[in-house]
Amino acid sequence: MSQPPILVQKNVSLQAFNTFGIAARAHEMLVFQSADAVQSAVTQGLLRDRAHFVLGGGSNIVLTADVRQLVLKVEISGMSLVSETDKHWIVQVGAGVNWHDFVCWTVANGWPGLENLALIPGVCGAAPVQNIGAYGVELQDRFHALDAVDLETGRAFTLQAAQCGFGYRDSVFKHEPAHAGAMGLKGRALITQVRFALPKQWRAELGYLDLQKQVSATGITEPDAQQVLDWVVSIRRAKLPDPALIGNAGSFFKNPTVSEEQCADIIGREPNLVHYPLADGRIKLAAGWLIDACGWRGKQIGLAGVYEKQALVLVNRGTTAQSVTGGEVMTLAKAIQTSVFERFGLMLEPEPEVI
Ligand code: EPU
Repeated sequence: MSQPPILVQKNVSLQAFNTFGIAARAHEMLVFQSADAVQSAVTQGLLRDRAHFVLGGGSNIVLTADVRQLVLKVEISGMSLVSETDKHWIVQVGAGVNWHDFVCWTVANGWPGLENLALIPGVCGAAPVQNIGAYGVELQDRFHALDAVDLETGRAFTLQAAQCGFGYRDSVFKHEPAHAGAMGLKGRALITQVRFALPKQWRAELGYLDLQKQVSATGITEPDAQQVLDWVVSIRRAKLPDPALIGNAGSFFKNPTVSEEQCADIIGREPNLVHYPLADGRIKLAAGWLIDACGWRGKQIGLAGVYEKQALVLVNRGTTAQSVTGGEVMTLAKAIQTSVFERFGLMLEPEPEVI
């Protein structure tokens, strides 16, 4: 049987493959267009004894130097309706498909449920790793199952939602194997296909303040999924930079959670603190507000900047010819962490993976 094609590239620029636009190079990169090609690379021993990292849309990474690890780039395509139940349409997508293109395709076909997640940068294979979320919906609310390849054995396997360990911007794919006694699949699994269960009994999810404002402004109280998608696109365009124009990796820090007592203590000193009670009794704080309150919005260190319209987003103030470096981004991130810690006693946790 013939081997599926694996494209091997040496000394390749990663600048176009990370949304920050950082000018780093990969010593070697393998490009896969099918799960078979991934399995074949493993069984041929191409990954043996070599550190590697999986590159999706590059929307959640900071490259701090040229990458010595073997880069595995996933370009698996395809979108299809694979089955349906009484309650759901089951839709499958290749890991290399652009996330927003997939969301638009589902809504255009009359399978709603992902519209609140429109315009999130990146590819579909990376979406479960991060458990992406926006405007009141998280990937885990619509997730059905995924297929992956074990990068040690070459075996293909399927995981259901309960096996993915989803949490806030978290999953089993972000943790080292045997991390804290739990199962971790970081560096071990390469996601090839993702399936979603999209509800037939759909209701617009409009709880988030920015969407409520759209309802009031337009008077449309029962929008369809396409309308919600259009609103989300316009909200995001108004406050988040387009990575095609200004390099960035979305929110740079996670929103921290604190106990009720901690929250009351901070409010005593900072009465305007933005906070949201969670179902488990803890309180979520808006990291963007904390950073803004420390005066960082619009500031810059070297070519690394804090976006003027959303302080949670760090941006590349350089050009393609002279881009920000990962070192500058991390220097700015650490300076922000220090000032937020000094003022609020909270250590912000970065969201992107630092490589
Ligand atoms: N705020 C400020 N100043 C700022 C930024 C924010 O005062 O510079 C305040 C806002 O006024 C608002 C609050 O902070 O009261 C929260 O801001 P926003 O509504 O923009 O949402 P966020 O909590 O900063 C999160 C996600 C985003 C997601 C939005 C919408 C995280 C880390 N970020 O941002 O996700 O799009 O909610 O659901 O959870 C991402 O993960 O990359 C991302 C963009």
